[in-house]
Amino acid sequence: MTILVTGGAGYIGSHTCLELLTAGYDVVVFDNFLNGHEEALRRVEKIAGRSLRVVEGDIQDKVALVHALRTYQCTKVIHFAGLKAVGDSVSDPLPFYKNNVFGSITLLDAMAECGVKSIIFSSSATVYGDPQWLPITEDHPLTVKNPYGRTKLMVENILRDLFHADPSWSIGILRYFNPVGAHPSGLIGEDPRNEPTNLMPYIAQVAVGLRPYLRIWGDDYPTLDGTGERDYIHVVDLARGHLAALAALGAPTLFSVNLGTGESHSVLEMVDGLKHASGREIPTERHSRREGDAATCYADPSFAKSLLNWEASLGIQEMCRDQWNWRVNNPNGYDT
Ligand code: WQD
Repeated sequence: MTILVTGGAGYIGSHTCLELLTAGYDVVVFDNFLNGHEEALRRVEKIAGRSLRVVEGDIQDKVALVHALRTYQCTKVIHFAGLKAVGDSVSDPLPFYKNNVFGSITLLDAMAECGVKSIIFSSSATVYGDPQWLPITEDHPLTVKNPYGRTKLMVENILRDLFHADPSWSIGILRYFNPVGAHPSGLIGEDPRNEPTNLMPYIAQVAVGLRPYLRIWGDDYPTLDGTGERDYIHVVDLARGHLAALAALGAPTLFSVNLGTGESHSVLEMVDGLKHASGREIPTERHSRREGDAATCYADPSFAKSLLNWEASLGIQEMCRDQWNWRVNNPNGYDT
């Protein structure tokens, strides 16, 4: 079975491609390499001992998508491609609507034209907005607060409308909590092209000496130690969740499911975890809260367990160990 993976050269995409190859799937990566790294795919092939096919292209290019789907006889799609920097989406929203929404519509159009009606969509816990209850269940209100989150919710709604109009589709919507860590080989990992906005890649860059200190956004939250708490999930667990969701796309279906651990950890806990994993000091500076941040956010993972027979198995120690192992072996990421 051949899977088309849009954005497969990215952080979660590359880890998912590795799991797909290891499980025996044939993989075609469709990526414009705006944020992804071709080197990541070379290393995925090295770890897996199998090759994958790479098509450089933009998901706004329907002709290229149809050609890739047809040439490689793809039967299912995992759709990662999109812009994800929340802050950038506020200051420059149009590229997010073009890439994330128009690009997804173009992909669905191309799939329909080729008779390919099975898709896994990379959504985000950001669609829940400020938690109204915890742990967050899939029926939690969807109240997005930034353009990035709005693009994710728009694509979710497009998929729900599509399924309502044509229930022959098989659609899995996966809402990620906070992906962190790296494959234990240390060969692939998260390599943001600009200054990281997410916590763990930033801490790792401080630990390896790329950044002088970590700014802690808010230490006056109503949490155990005053800093923000999140549901961090190991990227390998997350990748394996995609394979479980892919297996659930056999018959026509539509589901939305949380991919999280059900546990939350604070910023200070993650700093301590990276300190322990690296043996390095991690200087911090306390700052006021970052606009739009919630105090605490974590998943109820029970639906993923019942529907997909999937649950996260890697803990904070493995997340910090593998985050550090990637960064210390690749201080400049994929730019060797
Ligand atoms: C985690 C905690 C910060 C950086 C975002 C997106 C979400 C998803 C995951 C794509 C918070 C604190 C962070 C720093 C800090 N991405 N922090 N100093 O905001 O939960 O979610 O990434 O889908 O859409 O919104 O993750 O890693 O940015 O922050 O103190 O330099 O770390 O305040 O409490 P977040 P994060």
